[in-house]
Amino acid sequence: SFLPLPSPYKSPLCLLLLFSHFSSEEFFLLSSPFSHLLRRRSWSSQTVSEMESLGLRAVGSHCSLSEMDDLDLNRALDRPRLKIERKRSFDERSMSELSRHDSPRGRSVLDTPLSSARNSFEPHPMMAEAWEALRRSMVFFRGLPVGTLAAVDNTTDEVLNYDQVFVRDFVPSALAFLMNGESDIVKHFLLKTLQLQDSEKRVDRFKLGKGVMPASFKVSHDPIRETDHLVADFGETAIGRVAPVDSGFWWIILLRAYTKSTGDLTLSETPECQKGMKLILSLCLAEGFDTFPTLLCADGCSMIDRRMGVYGYPIEIQALFYMALRCALSMLRPDGDGRECIEKITKRLHALSFHMRNYFWLDYQQLNDIYRYKTEEYSHTAVNKFNVMPDSIPDWVFDFMPLRGGYFVGNVGPAHMDFRWFALGNCVSIMSSLATPDQSMAIMDLLEHRWDELVGEMPLKICYPCLEGHEWRIVTGCDPKNTRWSYHNGGSWPVLLWQLTAACIKTGRPQIARRAVDLIESRLHRDCWPEYYDGKLGRYVGKQARKYQTWSIAGYLVAKMLLEDPSHIGMISLEEDKLMKPVIKRSASWPQL
Ligand code: GLC
Repeated sequence: SFLPLPSPYKSPLCLLLLFSHFSSEEFFLLSSPFSHLLRRRSWSSQTVSEMESLGLRAVGSHCSLSEMDDLDLNRALDRPRLKIERKRSFDERSMSELSRHDSPRGRSVLDTPLSSARNSFEPHPMMAEAWEALRRSMVFFRGLPVGTLAAVDNTTDEVLNYDQVFVRDFVPSALAFLMNGESDIVKHFLLKTLQLQDSEKRVDRFKLGKGVMPASFKVSHDPIRETDHLVADFGETAIGRVAPVDSGFWWIILLRAYTKSTGDLTLSETPECQKGMKLILSLCLAEGFDTFPTLLCADGCSMIDRRMGVYGYPIEIQALFYMALRCALSMLRPDGDGRECIEKITKRLHALSFHMRNYFWLDYQQLNDIYRYKTEEYSHTAVNKFNVMPDSIPDWVFDFMPLRGGYFVGNVGPAHMDFRWFALGNCVSIMSSLATPDQSMAIMDLLEHRWDELVGEMPLKICYPCLEGHEWRIVTGCDPKNTRWSYHNGGSWPVLLWQLTAACIKTGRPQIARRAVDLIESRLHRDCWPEYYDGKLGRYVGKQARKYQTWSIAGYLVAKMLLEDPSHIGMISLEEDKLMKPVIKRSASWPQL
């Protein structure tokens, strides 16, 4: 009943015909919930018992088709047919080209266990290792699982704050658990962090807003009283002392993922969760001096938690803000102050999507327009709305921009356009449908065109390009951890694989994710699951990277499970809201979106 195929297709003969008609990858996407069963059957009994001993249930998605209102399966079903007539995609081309060359080790790149496993539905041995490592990172509070440590690195004594449960780091762990049918840890995490939100937060003598969610927390055990208690960090002990703006958004996004995956509405509907959401949003929806619908932020308030010149209106926060607003909209009850909150959200979403889709979007045409901008324009007729100086366009972007493709730039503010590419913001824009379907496709096109720069040898560059020399000194404040092509400054972060995969599945281009997964599988476990890689191509294990970094492990698992069963995407993606299309006619100098 789960397979949305007309009944004649369900006979074994027709399935065989389908297999021969589509490439395995196309068939994979086409019949995912069903092929899930086929694949299960082909697992060796040893693998199955190994997986079972790790507590892995052979479950697929927990949303029924009727619940998956956000997943346009029809689109997924139509796509393979279209693809057959299309010219070979970049992936197909490059993979066959690759097979013609021998790797430095003297064997064909395609002739490896990794690539041969790609079409045999066998789970990669790394999966079992990853699950084991993920379970080792679990944190318990009075006997209940409440999260996962940022890293369990036994190769160093220097723990720093990696022995804590970070809200943003827990997201891929939570998704992996949800996809495996284990929702308890996610529920406990959501409830514990909600309790922490309620505590008084201070930095010196300054009291933080009520809605702020912790960046991380730690379970501390009192051996005398034999009890556990939680210690949270709201940014006051972090580098730079910045409150995490992303934590609250991830919390709301996770609450929806939990609800979608389990079908359990009782959690999100509790007065506590309703209040928690409203408190988070009241921090962002309050009226003030803003002239833009985007959210003004300090440097270091998100995944990039050090000074990196992302203050102002960073894309990562704007995309998460948009996604959290939409998730909250689907969960808030329209009673009491809920109704007012819903109204505010709706208005903000409208303005935010217009602003982002128009002013943050950069493609060849738009770049050319900015290059020709006049400055010093006053009044409503100004084309150059933020007075961006064409001279401030960095040289690299002219060569980088393909004729087909585009992306949301890093930041837009008064006379300020940060042209850098940031992976997280762009992937979340696709997942949340902040990007229009055309923009989403253009982002994927850019990734294909600029594979070496944005993916390289280890997915995925956190941002591109890096800052160096004088610019690095001024912008990062001479940060020795963020030197060029390292850490947040153009380093490669395996955790971003899950977001890339989600974006690929949403846009119907899983081959791109598959290619990135192959890269990860060739190195990540051998290198002991590092936090990040350094270098222009991401070839070197990061200078100060933790080993056994939990979100590198969980990100891989989520990517694999998404590819195996694309219906999981419903947990973390939102379909386009047709009402939010740009309504205002743009001046002639703006390309039509
Ligand atoms: C680093 C990262 C941050 C992450 C933390 C824990 O500080 O910049 O994004 O949450 O480590 O892994």
